[in-house]
Amino acid sequence: MLINKLPLKKDLNPSKIIINFACMIILAPLHGFTDFIFRNVYSRHYEGIDVAVSPFISLTQCEKINPRKAKDVLPANNSSMPVIPQILGKEPELFIQMAHFLQDLGYDELNWNLGCPVKSIANNKRGSGMLPHPELLRSILDKIIPAIGSRLSVKIRLGYYSTDEIHQLIPVFNDYPLQNICIHPRIGIQMYEGKIQHEILQAIIGDFKHEIIYNGDINTLDDFNNIRQRYPSIKKWMIGRGVFYNPLLPQQLKEARVEINVRDSERFSLFINDLIHELRLYKSEAQTVNKMKDLWSLFSYGFDERLSVINQIIHVDNLPDMIKTINTIIETEKRLLAK
Ligand SMILES: Cc1cc2nc3c(=O)[nH]c(=O)nc-3n(C[C@H](O)[C@H](O)[C@H](O)COP(=O)(O)O)c2cc1C
Repeated sequence: MLINKLPLKKDLNPSKIIINFACMIILAPLHGFTDFIFRNVYSRHYEGIDVAVSPFISLTQCEKINPRKAKDVLPANNSSMPVIPQILGKEPELFIQMAHFLQDLGYDELNWNLGCPVKSIANNKRGSGMLPHPELLRSILDKIIPAIGSRLSVKIRLGYYSTDEIHQLIPVFNDYPLQNICIHPRIGIQMYEGKIQHEILQAIIGDFKHEIIYNGDINTLDDFNNIRQRYPSIKKWMIGRGVFYNPLLPQQLKEARVEINVRDSERFSLFINDLIHELRLYKSEAQTVNKMKDLWSLFSYGFDERLSVINQIIHVDNLPDMIKTINTIIETEKRLLAK
């Protein structure tokens, strides 16, 4: 199991740890995965994440925003990990309304989702579907920036249909006072798979006026070290799926250290059981079972026998069995590792 790679903090020899103070780790927004329940429980068991960008809040026409819509970023739900709310949409008036609502909650940075590749969203020029339309992008920034000030950051890809699109986008972004630009160096039609276009990003990174945050396929310390070498100017790194494949990853990246310790199965087990307990405070038993099935579609990557793990999880239909199944999966892995 990949998660068993770092000793518990108390077992480490502090003199041997190289702390990466210069690097900031940002939890990527994963809609349906990294909500406030996950973020709060995660931060009770693991270290290394400095800040999270929330999964997107979609803009909808309404007189006044219902706080339930922004439940994920309400300060009362977010005392454990700093969070930057993310907005998905393209209507300037609605954007400004949501920005002011979030500003009143105390947020001084908002992130605009210009990277979502989901077809139904992109076809509507939202998310990465905005990237082939630099003039539309400019007209929206023209309206929202004077109303919300320089509190906006954006999360983008290199384009939707083609990496050529980024060349028309850079001068547009450069004309506005953005906090930073987080880049996932794929194009929209690639979704989350296929080759990361490092050569393109390396060639254009110097053309941006803003601070760049890197995001994509950092799943191990080796990935991080390899990618870091390509971008010496980058100091902030966003990681998403890797946190599920290996919840110790943020700490490993921060401390630049990977070691084996079977007892980390215990930490993972405590984390998962705490997560189930917390989910039950907000959801029915059936909803909690379904949520676990979703989350394990990513957690399962941390196990050598991924297909068998998925197979066991998807056939469970009640919460006591789900808890039993998960604990058996973790125990089995722990015994295998101890051999
Ligand atoms: C299930 C899932 C949900 C996602 N939801 C969002 C989202 O709400 N907002 C966003 O900007 N990106 C979203 N993303 C993209 C991730 O934030 C990130 O850019 C992508 O997973 C690549 O980073 P990674 O390789 O570290 O996972 C999502 C990705 C996945 C797989």
